[in-house]
Amino acid sequence: MRLLTFSILKNCKLKPSLCKIYQNISVDFSQSKIEPLAEKLPGDTSYIEILPSWKPDEAPELRLDILRHMRILPNFVTEEEECGILAEVEPQLKRMRYEYDHWDNAIEGYRETERGKWNEQNEAIISRVREVAFAPNSELLPYVHVLDLAAAGHIKPHVDAVRFCGDTIAGLCLASSAVMRLTHEKKPHLALDALLERRCLYIMSGVARYSFSHAVLGGEHSVWRGERLPRRRRVAVICREQPRPENRQ
Ligand code: OGA
Ligand code: MN
Repeated sequence: MRLLTFSILKNCKLKPSLCKIYQNISVDFSQSKIEPLAEKLPGDTSYIEILPSWKPDEAPELRLDILRHMRILPNFVTEEEECGILAEVEPQLKRMRYEYDHWDNAIEGYRETERGKWNEQNEAIISRVREVAFAPNSELLPYVHVLDLAAAGHIKPHVDAVRFCGDTIAGLCLASSAVMRLTHEKKPHLALDALLERRCLYIMSGVARYSFSHAVLGGEHSVWRGERLPRRRRVAVICREQPRPENRQ
Protein backbone atom coordinates (compact mmCIF):
# COMPACT_ATOMS: atom_id res chain seq x y z
CA MET A 1 0.00 0.00 0.00
CA ARG A 2 1.24 3.43 -0.82
CA LEU A 3 1.30 5.67 2.20
CA LEU A 4 1.00 8.84 0.30
CA THR A 5 -0.47 12.13 1.21
CA PHE A 6 -2.74 12.08 -1.80
CA SER A 7 -4.61 8.98 -0.73
CA ILE A 8 -4.57 10.04 2.87
CA LEU A 9 -6.08 13.40 2.09
CA LYS A 10 -8.51 11.94 -0.41
CA ASN A 11 -9.84 9.44 2.05
CA CYS A 12 -10.22 11.98 4.72
CA LYS A 13 -13.80 13.10 4.47
CA LEU A 14 -15.33 12.20 7.78
CA LYS A 15 -15.13 13.84 11.11
CA PRO A 16 -12.83 14.12 12.90
CA SER A 17 -11.45 15.02 9.56
CA LEU A 18 -8.04 16.37 10.28
CA CYS A 19 -6.29 13.92 8.06
CA LYS A 20 -3.75 11.57 9.45
CA ILE A 21 -1.03 13.52 7.81
CA TYR A 22 -2.20 16.54 9.71
CA GLN A 23 -2.37 15.00 13.14
CA ASN A 24 -0.52 16.71 15.89
CA ILE A 25 1.83 14.19 17.32
CA SER A 26 4.69 15.34 19.44
CA VAL A 27 7.94 13.60 18.83
CA ASP A 28 11.42 13.69 20.21
CA PHE A 29 13.45 15.20 17.41
CA SER A 30 16.66 15.63 19.34
CA GLN A 31 18.04 12.83 17.21
CA SER A 32 17.31 14.66 13.98
CA LYS A 33 20.09 14.60 11.50
CA ILE A 34 21.72 18.01 11.26
CA GLU A 35 21.51 18.70 7.59
CA PRO A 36 25.03 19.39 6.38
CA LEU A 37 23.76 21.65 3.65
CA ALA A 38 21.83 23.74 6.11
CA GLU A 39 25.12 25.14 7.25
CA LYS A 40 26.28 25.90 3.73
CA LEU A 41 22.99 27.20 2.45
CA PRO A 42 21.23 28.98 5.27
CA GLY A 43 17.81 30.39 4.54
CA ASP A 44 17.26 34.08 3.97
CA THR A 45 15.91 35.25 7.32
CA SER A 46 14.64 38.51 5.85
CA TYR A 47 11.66 36.44 4.69
CA ILE A 48 10.76 35.68 8.28
CA GLU A 49 8.94 38.00 10.61
CA ILE A 50 8.65 37.08 14.27
CA LEU A 51 5.21 38.24 15.43
CA PRO A 52 5.10 40.99 18.10
CA SER A 53 3.50 38.63 20.62
CA TRP A 54 6.90 36.88 20.78
CA LYS A 55 8.80 39.36 22.89
CA PRO A 56 12.46 39.81 22.00
CA ASP A 57 13.66 38.48 25.35
CA GLU A 58 11.47 35.39 25.38
CA ALA A 59 12.93 32.01 24.47
CA PRO A 60 15.96 33.39 22.61
CA GLU A 61 17.38 29.92 21.88
CA LEU A 62 14.13 28.81 20.33
CA ARG A 63 14.15 31.94 18.19
CA LEU A 64 17.58 31.04 16.85
CA ASP A 65 16.56 27.46 16.39
CA ILE A 66 13.45 28.28 14.41
CA LEU A 67 15.38 30.64 12.14
CA ARG A 68 17.81 27.83 11.42
CA HIS A 69 15.10 25.26 10.77
CA MET A 70 12.65 27.27 8.69
CA ARG A 71 14.79 28.02 5.69
CA ILE A 72 13.65 30.05 2.73
CA LEU A 73 15.68 30.12 -0.44
CA PRO A 74 14.22 32.83 -2.68
CA ASN A 75 14.25 32.43 -6.46
CA PHE A 76 15.15 28.78 -6.25
CA VAL A 77 13.68 28.25 -9.71
CA THR A 78 13.59 30.58 -12.68
CA GLU A 79 10.37 31.72 -14.34
CA GLU A 80 11.06 29.33 -17.15
CA GLU A 81 11.51 26.42 -14.76
CA GLU A 82 8.33 27.40 -12.93
CA CYS A 83 6.44 27.37 -16.25
CA GLY A 84 7.92 23.98 -17.08
CA ILE A 85 6.73 22.40 -13.84
CA LEU A 86 3.29 23.99 -14.04
CA ALA A 87 2.91 22.84 -17.65
CA GLU A 88 3.63 19.27 -16.64
CA VAL A 89 1.17 19.13 -13.75
CA GLU A 90 -1.59 21.25 -15.27
CA PRO A 91 -3.26 18.59 -17.44
CA GLN A 92 -3.70 16.37 -14.39
CA LEU A 93 -4.87 19.15 -12.08
CA LYS A 94 -7.26 20.61 -14.61
CA ARG A 95 -9.33 17.46 -14.56
CA MET A 96 -10.09 17.88 -10.87
CA ARG A 97 -12.34 20.27 -9.05
CA TYR A 98 -11.21 22.32 -6.09
CA GLU A 99 -12.50 20.79 -2.89
CA TYR A 100 -14.24 22.98 -0.39
CA ASP A 101 -15.13 20.64 2.38
CA HIS A 102 -17.97 21.19 4.74
CA TRP A 103 -16.12 19.25 7.34
CA ASP A 104 -13.44 20.53 9.57
CA ASN A 105 -10.77 19.81 7.01
CA ALA A 106 -7.18 20.97 7.17
CA ILE A 107 -7.28 22.48 3.69
CA GLU A 108 -9.98 24.52 2.02
CA GLY A 109 -10.08 25.06 -1.72
CA TYR A 110 -7.53 22.64 -3.02
CA ARG A 111 -6.92 19.93 -5.52
CA GLU A 112 -3.89 17.77 -5.53
CA THR A 113 -1.97 15.04 -7.17
CA GLU A 114 1.36 13.35 -6.83
CA ARG A 115 4.05 12.51 -9.28
CA GLY A 116 6.74 9.92 -9.38
CA LYS A 117 8.11 10.71 -12.82
CA TRP A 118 8.87 14.04 -14.43
CA ASN A 119 10.19 15.09 -17.76
CA GLU A 120 13.93 15.52 -17.96
CA GLN A 121 14.03 19.23 -17.25
CA ASN A 122 11.68 18.96 -14.28
CA GLU A 123 13.42 15.87 -12.94
CA ALA A 124 16.58 17.98 -12.77
CA ILE A 125 14.75 20.60 -10.70
CA ILE A 126 13.33 18.01 -8.31
CA SER A 127 16.80 16.52 -7.91
CA ARG A 128 18.15 19.95 -7.08
CA VAL A 129 15.46 20.36 -4.41
CA ARG A 130 16.35 16.97 -2.96
CA GLU A 131 20.06 17.69 -2.92
CA VAL A 132 19.67 21.01 -1.21
CA ALA A 133 16.96 20.07 1.28
CA PHE A 134 17.81 16.57 2.44
CA ALA A 135 20.84 14.88 3.91
CA PRO A 136 22.54 12.62 1.36
CA ASN A 137 21.46 9.38 3.03
CA SER A 138 17.82 10.38 3.52
CA GLU A 139 15.11 8.06 2.30
CA LEU A 140 12.53 10.11 0.49
CA LEU A 141 8.92 9.41 -0.35
CA PRO A 142 9.01 8.36 -4.01
CA TYR A 143 6.12 10.60 -4.98
CA VAL A 144 6.20 14.36 -4.97
CA HIS A 145 3.03 15.97 -3.61
CA VAL A 146 1.55 18.66 -5.85
CA LEU A 147 -0.91 20.83 -3.96
CA ASP A 148 -2.93 23.36 -5.92
CA LEU A 149 -4.56 25.91 -3.65
CA ALA A 150 -7.30 28.07 -5.18
CA ALA A 151 -7.05 31.83 -4.78
CA ALA A 152 -9.83 31.56 -2.19
CA GLY A 153 -8.30 28.55 -0.45
CA HIS A 154 -6.15 28.27 2.64
CA ILE A 155 -4.41 25.68 4.78
CA LYS A 156 -5.27 25.59 8.45
CA PRO A 157 -2.61 25.14 11.14
CA HIS A 158 -1.38 21.56 11.31
CA VAL A 159 1.70 19.46 11.85
CA ASP A 160 2.39 16.84 9.19
CA ALA A 161 1.85 13.45 10.81
CA VAL A 162 4.97 11.55 11.77
CA ARG A 163 3.35 8.33 10.55
CA PHE A 164 3.49 9.53 6.99
CA CYS A 165 6.34 11.96 6.82
CA GLY A 166 9.89 12.13 8.19
CA ASP A 167 12.07 14.92 9.53
CA THR A 168 12.32 17.32 6.63
CA ILE A 169 9.70 18.87 4.34
CA ALA A 170 10.73 20.91 1.30
CA GLY A 171 8.26 22.87 -0.81
CA LEU A 172 8.57 24.85 -4.00
CA CYS A 173 6.10 27.70 -4.07
CA LEU A 174 4.84 28.34 -7.59
CA ALA A 175 2.35 30.61 -9.35
CA SER A 176 1.71 32.92 -6.39
CA SER A 177 3.45 34.15 -3.28
CA ALA A 178 1.87 33.28 0.06
CA VAL A 179 2.34 33.82 3.76
CA MET A 180 2.95 30.80 5.93
CA ARG A 181 2.38 31.15 9.68
CA LEU A 182 4.26 28.99 12.15
CA THR A 183 2.79 28.81 15.64
CA HIS A 184 4.33 27.06 18.62
CA GLU A 185 2.17 24.11 19.57
CA LYS A 186 2.35 24.70 23.32
CA LYS A 187 2.88 28.46 23.45
CA PRO A 188 0.83 29.92 20.62
CA HIS A 189 2.03 33.46 21.23
CA LEU A 190 5.40 32.28 19.90
CA ALA A 191 4.63 32.64 16.24
CA LEU A 192 6.16 33.90 13.03
CA ASP A 193 5.20 34.59 9.47
CA ALA A 194 7.25 33.44 6.53
CA LEU A 195 6.94 35.10 3.16
CA LEU A 196 6.94 32.33 0.60
CA GLU A 197 7.65 34.26 -2.49
CA ARG A 198 6.67 32.77 -5.80
CA ARG A 199 9.52 30.49 -7.00
CA CYS A 200 11.12 30.11 -3.58
CA LEU A 201 11.99 26.84 -1.90
CA TYR A 202 11.18 26.49 1.77
CA ILE A 203 12.63 23.78 3.96
CA MET A 204 11.17 22.87 7.34
CA SER A 205 12.96 20.61 9.75
CA GLY A 206 13.62 20.20 13.49
CA VAL A 207 11.57 22.59 15.62
CA ALA A 208 9.91 24.09 12.55
CA ARG A 209 8.62 20.69 11.54
CA TYR A 210 7.73 19.29 14.95
CA SER A 211 7.19 22.01 17.56
CA PHE A 212 5.35 24.54 15.42
CA SER A 213 2.22 24.11 13.35
CA HIS A 214 2.22 25.65 9.89
CA ALA A 215 -0.63 27.26 7.98
CA VAL A 216 -0.95 29.01 4.63
CA LEU A 217 -2.99 32.15 5.16
CA GLY A 218 -5.88 33.04 2.91
CA GLY A 219 -8.25 35.89 2.19
CA GLU A 220 -7.89 38.96 4.36
CA HIS A 221 -5.48 37.11 6.63
CA SER A 222 -2.87 37.01 3.89
CA VAL A 223 -0.81 39.92 5.19
CA TRP A 224 2.94 40.40 5.12
CA ARG A 225 4.54 43.06 7.33
CA GLY A 226 1.24 44.91 7.64
CA GLU A 227 0.37 44.92 3.94
CA ARG A 228 -2.16 42.75 2.19
CA LEU A 229 -0.54 40.07 0.10
CA PRO A 230 -3.27 39.07 -2.32
CA ARG A 231 -2.98 35.37 -2.87
CA ARG A 232 -3.69 34.04 -6.27
CA ARG A 233 -3.90 30.39 -7.18
CA ARG A 234 -0.78 28.75 -5.84
CA VAL A 235 0.85 25.43 -6.57
CA ALA A 236 3.18 23.85 -4.02
CA VAL A 237 5.47 21.02 -5.06
CA ILE A 238 6.42 19.25 -1.87
CA CYS A 239 9.11 16.64 -1.26
CA ARG A 240 9.03 14.68 1.97
CA GLU A 241 11.07 12.04 3.71
CA GLN A 242 9.91 8.56 4.52
CA PRO A 243 8.58 8.43 8.06
CA ARG A 244 11.08 7.33 10.66
CA PRO A 245 11.18 3.56 11.00
CA GLU A 246 9.72 3.71 14.52
CA ASN A 247 6.70 5.60 13.22
CA ARG A 248 5.99 3.38 10.24
CA GLN A 249 3.27 0.79 10.37
C1 OGA B 1 0.85 20.32 3.43
C2 OGA B 1 1.27 21.73 3.55
C3 OGA B 1 2.16 23.69 2.50
C4 OGA B 1 2.26 24.34 1.18
O1 OGA B 1 0.45 19.91 2.33
O2 OGA B 1 0.95 19.59 4.44
O3 OGA B 1 1.47 22.17 4.65
O4 OGA B 1 3.27 25.00 0.95
N1 OGA B 1 1.49 22.45 2.44
O5 OGA B 1 1.32 24.23 0.40
MN1 MN C 1 1.90 20.52 6.06
